[in-house]
Amino acid sequence: MARTTSGSSNRSTNRNSNSRSANSSRSPERSAFSWGSTGSWLGAAAAGAAIAVAANLGRKLAMQGMSARAGDWDEVLAAEHKATLAIFDKILETEDSQTTKRAILIKKLTHALDKHAHEEEHVVYPALRAANDAHDADLLEGEHGYVKTFLFELNEMEKGSADFLPKVRDFRAMVDRHAKMEEQEVFPRLKEGLTQEQNDHVTSLVNKEGF
Ligand SMILES: [Fe+2]
Ligand SMILES: [Fe+2]
Repeated sequence: MARTTSGSSNRSTNRNSNSRSANSSRSPERSAFSWGSTGSWLGAAAAGAAIAVAANLGRKLAMQGMSARAGDWDEVLAAEHKATLAIFDKILETEDSQTTKRAILIKKLTHALDKHAHEEEHVVYPALRAANDAHDADLLEGEHGYVKTFLFELNEMEKGSADFLPKVRDFRAMVDRHAKMEEQEVFPRLKEGLTQEQNDHVTSLVNKEGF
């Protein structure tokens, strides 16, 4: 974990400066070009009924005076981060005697994390790579591997063990750090580099993968 933390912070410094220079020299069609060159995500989006629905919803929300961006992919994923951290907190409130409750909550946590990782690994991280951010995509996907490792260890562990909550605490800290990096650095940068139409397409794909 220490390695991940320091790697993350070093990279963060570099990335931010790179990001600024990339932003200043970025042409508006950079991402569109990069996506277009890898296939036809956008072409599929233009033809997709889901996009029409998203666009209609956006217009409807705008007419109601609400944000047309409500429910965007990054907000969906941030809400899942929050819900997942709340499951961690429920586990941390348990006593060593509540072994069944702990087992049930670990199952719930596993389900939430699996669904979330599926959405990110099948949509958002590939989109990051298409937007020339393979470094962050690979780092974040690698951290998902450690999420599975924590889950494996907690599943193997006696639920009444005195080591159980300290392990959950370490796990929560790792997930919280990962989620903050996504919410505060990586997702905003990706979103900013995409057109509204591309963001709508990512939203529809995330929702589809979440089912
Ligand atoms: Fe993630
Ligand atoms: Fe995430």
